Amino acid sequence: MSNTLFRTKKIEQSIQDTEEPEHALKKSLSALDLTVFGVGVIIGTGIFVLTGTVAKNNAGPAVALAFVVAGVVCALAALCYAEFASTVPVAGSAYTFSYASLGELPAWIIGWDLVLEFALGTAVVAVGWSGYIASLLDNAGWHLPAALSGREGADGFGFDILAAALVLVLTGILVVGTKLSARVTAVVVAVKVTVVLVVIIAGAFFVKGDNYDPFVPKAKPVEAGSGLDSPLVQLMFGWAPSNFGVMGIFTAASVVFFAFIGFDVVATAAEETRNPQRDMPRGILGSLLICTTLYVAVSIVVTGMQHYTDLSVDAPLADAFKATGHPWYAGFISFGAAVGLTTVCMILLLGQTRVFFAMSRDGLLPRFFSHVHPRFRTPHRPTILLGVIIAIVAGFTSLSELAELVNIGTLFAFVVVAVGVIILRRTRPDLPRAFRTPLVPILPIVSVLASLWLMLNLPAETWLRFGIWMALGFLVYFLYGRSHSRLGRDEKAVEAP
Ligand code: ALA
Repeated sequence: MSNTLFRTKKIEQSIQDTEEPEHALKKSLSALDLTVFGVGVIIGTGIFVLTGTVAKNNAGPAVALAFVVAGVVCALAALCYAEFASTVPVAGSAYTFSYASLGELPAWIIGWDLVLEFALGTAVVAVGWSGYIASLLDNAGWHLPAALSGREGADGFGFDILAAALVLVLTGILVVGTKLSARVTAVVVAVKVTVVLVVIIAGAFFVKGDNYDPFVPKAKPVEAGSGLDSPLVQLMFGWAPSNFGVMGIFTAASVVFFAFIGFDVVATAAEETRNPQRDMPRGILGSLLICTTLYVAVSIVVTGMQHYTDLSVDAPLADAFKATGHPWYAGFISFGAAVGLTTVCMILLLGQTRVFFAMSRDGLLPRFFSHVHPRFRTPHRPTILLGVIIAIVAGFTSLSELAELVNIGTLFAFVVVAVGVIILRRTRPDLPRAFRTPLVPILPIVSVLASLWLMLNLPAETWLRFGIWMALGFLVYFLYGRSHSRLGRDEKAVEAP
């Protein structure tokens, strides 16, 4: 039994699968496309919304340090991702990588986990987008009825109609083709980066040194609740739950980690990249570096413009400009944020459908989902199915409930990828690797420990929800995937006389 659970898919087979015409995606992306793609998905709700929440509740101006911590964790993971992506250039990201190295069950676990990350990530960003649009509409004097503007604030029924509509429109665009969406992405990314630069450059003129005092606020005990909302690490070691201080920086890092999610999505597009061996690592590391620099600069500026206790939690970047008497900037930033969040949503949705597509092509999910559209050459079936489901989730759920769940899922994927790098170096040293992770096995081990550390800083209830989702995944695998696996069937066919 353990043999079948850990059967691995030959890397050559993974690459060959992508060449079957009926199941092949178009190879059209370059390194620049990938970097734009990366920046397009990485900068989003994290910097536009979570910076304020986390500075106010967990870290004060030291939120800039939290971004550095989260950025380092991501850079370590990125170095592992880049080796995998350049060795296994097929759709599916960490899922495909682990199928080739760790075996079918771990691959299933990671694929199931990525579905959670991307689907809920899409929903979270759609809800953030809807908030910015609603605030722009408010400026123009138009107000949506509370029941149609999301769950929060609505008495009884609440459906975020803007968030749901966004997901459905983006689903349509993705069905028509990646190239079109990459072009749209490029324009939107330019707008988004401009807005971020405006915040940094214009905001720098309105910074007051007093606001950085204290830079790392003293630790403050939290009133006892159910305990489940405290970071797991505090419960494990029996520490009194607290905010701020040095531990507050790590709590903040585990939340603002959301701001970096997406560089791993670049890896999911490997199969659509013209020269994945060379372009994939460039795309991943390039976009990560750009974003980390911008995040640190934005958070330093914003916490310098307004005292952290006064920061807004809905639209902190725009509101800091309002507070310093510059409403025109605030309007421009809100508009740019809304535009920018659109691409984030779209790319997360894209990554999501590609993982689903790869799992279906391997028979772990019904093969029905891995036929590409005869004309558009996109996996239209999973795109439409998941688009509709995510639109419903985005309509009915609130942002804060889900962001942490997305983070734990992603960090877990990082752990698997880093372990996979070490294993694959031993089991398949012969494979050509366009990019080699430096200092193996030390660097991947440090990456595993760093990801685990951030996971431990997430609330206990997030661990509980994650456990439930993964248990559900085991059920689906043992009831469907294991017996329908294409790899399993091929092996049986070979064994049969
Ligand atoms: N990193 C993306 C964001 O912050 C997911 O919205």
